[in-house]
Amino acid sequence: MTLRAATLRRKPVADLVAEGDHGTLKRSLGLGQLTMLSIGATLGSGIFVVLGEAVPVAGPAVVLSFVLAGVTALFSALSYAELAGMIPLSGSSYSYTYATLGELVAWVCGWCLVLEYGVSVASVAVGWGQYLNELLRLAFGFAIPDALSGPPGDGGVVNVPAILVVVLAMVLLLSGAKESARANAVMVVVKIGTLVLFCAIAFSAVQAKNFTPFLPLGLAGLSAGGAKLFFSYIGFDAASTAGEEAENPQRDLPRAILLSLGIVTVLYCLVAVAAVGALPWQRFDGQKAALSHVLDVVSDNPFWAGLLAVGAIVAISSVVLTVLYGQTRILFAMSRDGLVPAALSKVDAKSGSPRTNTLVVSAFVAVLAAFIPLGKLADATSIGTLFAFGLVNVAVLILRRRQPDRPRTFRVPLSPVTPVLGVLCCAYMMLSLDGATWLVFGAWMVLGLLIYFGYGIRKSRLA
Ligand code: ALA
Repeated sequence: MTLRAATLRRKPVADLVAEGDHGTLKRSLGLGQLTMLSIGATLGSGIFVVLGEAVPVAGPAVVLSFVLAGVTALFSALSYAELAGMIPLSGSSYSYTYATLGELVAWVCGWCLVLEYGVSVASVAVGWGQYLNELLRLAFGFAIPDALSGPPGDGGVVNVPAILVVVLAMVLLLSGAKESARANAVMVVVKIGTLVLFCAIAFSAVQAKNFTPFLPLGLAGLSAGGAKLFFSYIGFDAASTAGEEAENPQRDLPRAILLSLGIVTVLYCLVAVAAVGALPWQRFDGQKAALSHVLDVVSDNPFWAGLLAVGAIVAISSVVLTVLYGQTRILFAMSRDGLVPAALSKVDAKSGSPRTNTLVVSAFVAVLAAFIPLGKLADATSIGTLFAFGLVNVAVLILRRRQPDRPRTFRVPLSPVTPVLGVLCCAYMMLSLDGATWLVFGAWMVLGLLIYFGYGIRKSRLA
């Protein structure tokens, strides 16, 4: 086979679907749990941490920044919904790309998903440690010493809390998808409850004057805030990595993806209105735990700020759990195709979960979180995610042309306009990220291509 033919070989949609139907993973997740899975992966450090960084950039218009980022996410979410209903496989966008754009692009997409899932979960785990320290300080006047709560280069030696949360998530995942989904559902209820409580307290302190001027930094501020807040929407696609564990994937995956995005968007906007309405926007500058700070100022009782920190810890735990889950399932699909070692697609007979895969992914993420200062890698997460989202929109366009009659349980409305807008939005957001992020992304791609041409291209199961 020529190099060109090898890199362009595609996996027929019918084969992909049949593979999912006869998969080795256990089908145990209903619509509720799938929706919780996506909310679990989405709602976390974005609203609890990044909101505080976006307010000084956008002013009270941060509310519209959330809407802007949400609309960008929505275009891609519609495309995810169409493809997840059509090709319900654990590989998510990697599998959709394999069916449409060929093996090399599929590999590149899968490699980007490692940024979206594997690398982002490491940076989220680091955020968890920061909130844990905040809580220990509030409750007991004690904090884990710097040496044990940060990586070398960030004033520490090893980040023990980050390792702890990854190990806890790993133990749950090893016990099975159903058990993990149950624990996640409880955590999602707690985090939604925390944000509702925040709104209840903050709304009582809202003052109309805090909304004027609404656009102190102009439209540029509004869109810069949107680019920052896009991070808070990453994860709505997590349900699509459960394609082989869903009881009724064709019907439930599109619903779970769109439902979770809708719920999260409404919550984000309410929290944003309450936050900037309760506190003048200038007072967010330099505040790390922004929502805690708002409660601290508007209520005299420090109990509420402490409770919010507990909610944030639970919220971020569920992001770690569900994103780690997504990463294991994507690698599972890539391993079944031969592009990464076969051990990653072996399923444990008792728990029904991919055991070796879970151990390897958890070890990788724990080491990354414990020893590497993740600053720039976190932005690289967004660029990798946007690239994968862009490919999903392209895949919708291709399949509409090539297989117009294949049954679809959900169809993107107004195609091709909507997927084209999806691609343009992703490209625009990618271009608004800085040069250093592009450099990290470029280096990541070179590493990925070396692995593909050194390993995957020869081991691929596709003839
Ligand atoms: N959207 C996820 C979060 O905000 C990554 O934590």
